[in-house]
Amino acid sequence: MPLASQRQHWGVYLRLSTVDKPRPGSETADNSAMSKLSDLRKSYEQGELDESLAVAEPLLQFRQWFEHALASDVHEPNAMTLATVGADGRPSTRIVLIKAFDERGIVWFTNYDSRKGRELAANPFAALQFHWVDLERVVRIEGRVERVESEVSDDYFRSRPLDSRLGAWASPQSHVIASRATLVGNAAKAAAQHGLNPPRPPNWGGYRLVPQRWEFWQGRKSRLHDRLSYRLDEAGGWIKERLAP
Ligand SMILES: Cc1cc2nc3c(=O)[nH]c(=O)nc-3n(C[C@H](O)[C@H](O)[C@H](O)COP(=O)(O)O)c2cc1C
Repeated sequence: MPLASQRQHWGVYLRLSTVDKPRPGSETADNSAMSKLSDLRKSYEQGELDESLAVAEPLLQFRQWFEHALASDVHEPNAMTLATVGADGRPSTRIVLIKAFDERGIVWFTNYDSRKGRELAANPFAALQFHWVDLERVVRIEGRVERVESEVSDDYFRSRPLDSRLGAWASPQSHVIASRATLVGNAAKAAAQHGLNPPRPPNWGGYRLVPQRWEFWQGRKSRLHDRLSYRLDEAGGWIKERLAP
């Protein structure tokens, strides 16, 4: 190897090895990085959420905030954390994209045999969370999860780009695979088998979370944040309450 590229090679190696293995004596630097971490804080001053202004229906409140997030150019306003709990009682989270919402609930699409799919089959309760960082807003939604009607999944599947539709066939989501080549090979097989019009895989479709509890969080100054909770009463109406931050 010529010297110049050898130096380059070692340069890369040294940079990586410095990251991987801190040298003796570098603990001070690590500690100061950690103390900076504990100093990280910001003041939340973008807005407020008053119970007299918040609407009676949490779905309408959500619509207002979601439309505002879409219009505000925040990154991935439609990305939400989905928390599930498996049969072993242990929680797990991942990000999914909201694809629809109405009075029936909040909809996303995925692989029914994935980890989340298996956990939801064992325990059909879940929690969703949006965090619109730039707006200093969080929405939490909890409830029971059901599969959407197969026509709803078919319609949405048909609307996806071809590579996404083939990808749904190619990926045994959440299962161990030997290598990336397995995925690429599966995608090529799916393309050869289904051409330009792949049908929806039977194990791929939508879920709908039917809300039983909502919370809207607006960051405020001095950690005196606004939190409005909506929970169902026995007659199916919504009780709106302020929670302490
Ligand atoms: C921004 C973003 C959006 C995502 N949207 C989806 C989605 O809509 N559906 C999905 O199945 N996975 C989506 N994923 C991938 C999931 O986070 C996750 O890796 C995958 O669903 C497997 O999760 P599981 O093993 O817990 O089932 C998304 C990831 C990111 C970062």
